[in-house]
Amino acid sequence: MSTLIDDALVLLRAGALVAIPTETVYGLAADAANPQAVARIFAAKGRPSDHPVIVHIAGAAQIDDWAREVPEVARKLAAAFWPGPLTLILKRQPHVPDAVTGGQDTVGLRAPAHPLTHELLERFGGGLAAPSANKFGHVSPTTAEHVSKEFGDAVPLVLDGGPCTVGVESTIISLVSNTPMLLRPGGVPREAIEAVLGQTLEHHQKPQTAKIRVSGLLDSHYAPRTTLVTGSGERLREEALRLHQNGERVALITLGAMNEACPATHCEVMPVTPVDYARTLYATLRKLDNGEFNTLLLESPPVTAEWLAVNDRLMRAAHWRLD
Ligand code: TXA
Ligand code: MG
Repeated sequence: MSTLIDDALVLLRAGALVAIPTETVYGLAADAANPQAVARIFAAKGRPSDHPVIVHIAGAAQIDDWAREVPEVARKLAAAFWPGPLTLILKRQPHVPDAVTGGQDTVGLRAPAHPLTHELLERFGGGLAAPSANKFGHVSPTTAEHVSKEFGDAVPLVLDGGPCTVGVESTIISLVSNTPMLLRPGGVPREAIEAVLGQTLEHHQKPQTAKIRVSGLLDSHYAPRTTLVTGSGERLREEALRLHQNGERVALITLGAMNEACPATHCEVMPVTPVDYARTLYATLRKLDNGEFNTLLLESPPVTAEWLAVNDRLMRAAHWRLD
C-alpha cells in the first residue's frame, strides 16, 4: 500500500510541487536540484524570481552537499539546533541552481524537525527548496487547510502534518562573513544562539519602507488583506469604540483577556506568553481576515527580547501603528 510520503516522493521526483509541514510554518516544496521544479514554486506564489529560497535537508550530514567552505560555527549551530527552526546562510556549492539562490553566491540551509517532513527528506535524499506556502506577501500558513484554501488545485499534494507547533518562521543566521549575523528572528531565540556562539549577534534588519502602506501593495509582508493596526491596548480600545460607533465592523485582538466588555464588533483574546502567542498568531490573522471586518486592531506585545520574533512579524504585517 502506498503512503502519502510515497506519493509525495513520486511527485517531487517528477518536478511537481508538494506542500510540506514543518514545525514553523507549511512550506511549498520542490526538488532543489531541478530548476524547472523550483520555477513552479515562484509561479504558484507569484513571488519575484530574485528572492532566494531555503533548501531543506535531512540533517547536518548533508551540509557539504549544498555549501562550501563551511565554518566550524555552522556545524556547532547545526549540532545544537537541528533538526529545528534555524536556517544557516552559507557559501553555496557551484551546482546549486540560481533559481534557488536568487543568483547569489550563498544558500540557506535548514533541517526541519517535523517527523513527516524529516522522513520525507531522508527518503528523498536530496534537498527540497521551500518558501512558506502562501501567496507572495500574505500571512504564512500553519495548517494544511490554510495551504489548500490558498492554492487549490495549483498544488497537487498537501501533506497534512497537523497544526505547526512553533508558528513563526525559522531564525536566519548568516555565516558568510567573519561575524555571524541575525537576518531574521524566529523559532530559535536569539539568546540561545548567542549562548552557543559565545558572542552577541549583530541584527541586520531588512530596511522597512514607509510606515503607512496601502493594502495590496507589494511591500507588505506576512500581511492580512484586511487593514491591520497595532498599538497599545488602551489606545486601541478607544479606537475600537470610535470605529464601532461609526458603524464599522472592527475586530479587537487583545493580549490576554480584558476586564471590561468588548468595545468592538468582535474581540479575540491572544495568549500572554510568546511561545503560545507565536503558535496561534497566523491562524488568528487568517481567521479574522475573512471579509467580515473593515479593520483589525491588535494590541502590541511588550518590546522585550522574548517577543522579538513576534514583534518582527507584527511590524511587517501591520498597515500602521497607533501610539
Ligand atoms: O521557517 C521557515 O524558514 C519556513 C519553512 C517553510 O522552512 N520558510 C520560510 O521561507 O520562511 P521564506 O521563503 O518564506 O523565507 C525565507 C527567507 C527569505 O526572506 C529569504 O530572503 C531568506 O530566507 N533567504 C533564503 N536564502 C537566502 C540566502 N541565500 N541569503 C539570504 N537570505 C536568504
Ligand atoms: Mg514567507
